[in-house]
Amino acid sequence: MLLSPRLATSLAFALAISSSGRTNARDVPQNVQDFYYSLRKKGSSCSKQLATGFYATDNGPNTFSYCGDHLDDFDVIYIQGTNRALADMDIDCDGVQGGPGDDGRCSYGRSPDLQDVTAFQDVVAGYNAGIKDLNPYIHPYVVFGNSGNKTGWKTFDPTAYGVEPLSVIGVVCGNQLIYGIWGDTNGDDGDKPMVGEAAISLATACEGDSMTGDNGYSNTDILYLAFTGKDAVPGAKGANWSATDYATFEKSIEPLGNKLTERIGVSLTNASVNLAVVLATVALGSIWVAL
Ligand SMILES: *[C@@H]1O[C@H](CO)[C@@H](O)[C@H](O)[C@H]1NC(C)=O
Ligand SMILES: *[C@@H]1O[C@H](CO)[C@@H](O)[C@H](O)[C@H]1NC(C)=O
Ligand SMILES: *[C@@H]1O[C@H](CO)[C@@H](O)[C@H](O)[C@H]1NC(C)=O
Repeated sequence: MLLSPRLATSLAFALAISSSGRTNARDVPQNVQDFYYSLRKKGSSCSKQLATGFYATDNGPNTFSYCGDHLDDFDVIYIQGTNRALADMDIDCDGVQGGPGDDGRCSYGRSPDLQDVTAFQDVVAGYNAGIKDLNPYIHPYVVFGNSGNKTGWKTFDPTAYGVEPLSVIGVVCGNQLIYGIWGDTNGDDGDKPMVGEAAISLATACEGDSMTGDNGYSNTDILYLAFTGKDAVPGAKGANWSATDYATFEKSIEPLGNKLTERIGVSLTNASVNLAVVLATVALGSIWVAL
């Protein structure tokens, strides 16, 4: 490929702009973007299913799995279906009811006296941050893992593979990367073992205010990335658990989230193209300067 010096300079300029042009919402870093595309490629599906047989939607197929294909190299577990599907996002409103941020959206289709606690409520309370439990409007928690005692019920315990309670989970939705925390699990109260669910705060960050207690996001294009190991746990001091709004809490786990997403390797296809452009740009740029 031949680039004129002028084109090389514009390319370098364009690269500089695209990497600094961050808005409020967090752009998906290139390595995560590439990973996301690699999972959604035609024909790609999970080879190392840690557990399978789950549903994303009530009427859809039960072909969703907790996938361990990158458990050894990237230390992550994610949900994947077949035919390019990842997971959807149903809305969870469990935890503190009527607390800060509660704008009533959880009440649609829910009983007004809902009191459900989240799975790790005792750990949250033990942080002594002045909160009894997670608040679905503030803490962007992800529902991950399935338990249940009904006959034939599909289950998956993320802790068996090293995912720690209240650890950071990366969520790629709507061209953004949101950091959530593992705060709840799916039980066996419904008819089918489901995957793809998050607190209303996380759903709102992904899809906006139209998300309510009974209106989630049904496209199966969301990537949930659980990071294994204790270093994925912010703990009592590593997050602002007492934050009174979503943005403040989210900001508090961003440094840890950014560090964890560095684990995601770069796929060769996209990366080699990007690297070639950068190298060509640098090389031609220096020739131009020398002339
Ligand atoms: C299954 O049974 C165990 C033991 O009785 C119980 O602790 C657990 O909460 C049950 N799981 C669900 C999802 O109901
Ligand atoms: C946590 O967030 C609240 C606002 O929601 C703020 O007042 C407080 O200073 C923050 N705490 C820390 C340790 O940053
Ligand atoms: C990476 O590859 C996918 C197709 O596999 C493409 O849609 C995407 O635009 C590529 N990203 C970059 C930055 O080249």
